[in-house]
Amino acid sequence: MTEIVHRLEPMTHADAARCAELERALFDGDGPWPEPAFHAELDAPHVRYFVVRGDDGVVVGYAGIGLLGSGPNVESEVHTIGTDPARRGRGIGTALLHELLRVADRHGGPVFLEVRTDNEPALALYRREGFEIVGTRKKYYQPSGADAFTMRRPARDEETAR
Ligand SMILES: CC(C)(COP(=O)(O)OP(=O)(O)OC[C@H]1O[C@@H](n2cnc3c(N)ncnc32)[C@H](O)[C@@H]1OP(=O)(O)O)[C@@H](O)C(=O)NCCC(=O)NCCS
Repeated sequence: MTEIVHRLEPMTHADAARCAELERALFDGDGPWPEPAFHAELDAPHVRYFVVRGDDGVVVGYAGIGLLGSGPNVESEVHTIGTDPARRGRGIGTALLHELLRVADRHGGPVFLEVRTDNEPALALYRREGFEIVGTRKKYYQPSGADAFTMRRPARDEETAR
């Protein structure tokens, strides 16, 4: 059942510890980002991060995207997306990805991401939102050594020109 997402808003530094806690739960063995990594991302130019909060204000989902390049050769790259395991399947990941794609479409150009080749829930979500596999990166994740697919979603104008 889809959950109505009441509170999707920009991530702040105050959210970094909770996001690092979720990373440990979601990406154990694949180099979960520690709290300082979230602070560094929030301080970086050309990135946008968002969170979804539950009714109690606690972060239950988070996502970020990098906006690369300028002029006609721009592209975007999904840096991370995750939903609290206890809150999966309620539309939180979809809402976060839609927000990232809105930002990417304002920037222009295609959107890229990496995803574990065995991550079926994420692959299903990305395929549904127009991403296609364009390559494989062997042993991309460490220390697990898991492979990644690179996925690409066409630029909005490229899509409508098809
Ligand atoms: C991928 C992830 C963010 C999806 O978050 P979510 O809040 O559960 O997503 P939603 O409820 O919006 O579901 C979106 C789609 O994901 C897919 N999906 C979600 N859970 C799934 C599951 N258990 N099996 C297969 N597909 C699943 C479905 O396509 C679903 O669409 P549908 O509801 O129309 O069938 C979440 O599973 C997650 O945090 N995974 C661990 C972290 C991760 O792998 N992030 C991606 C790294 S590249």
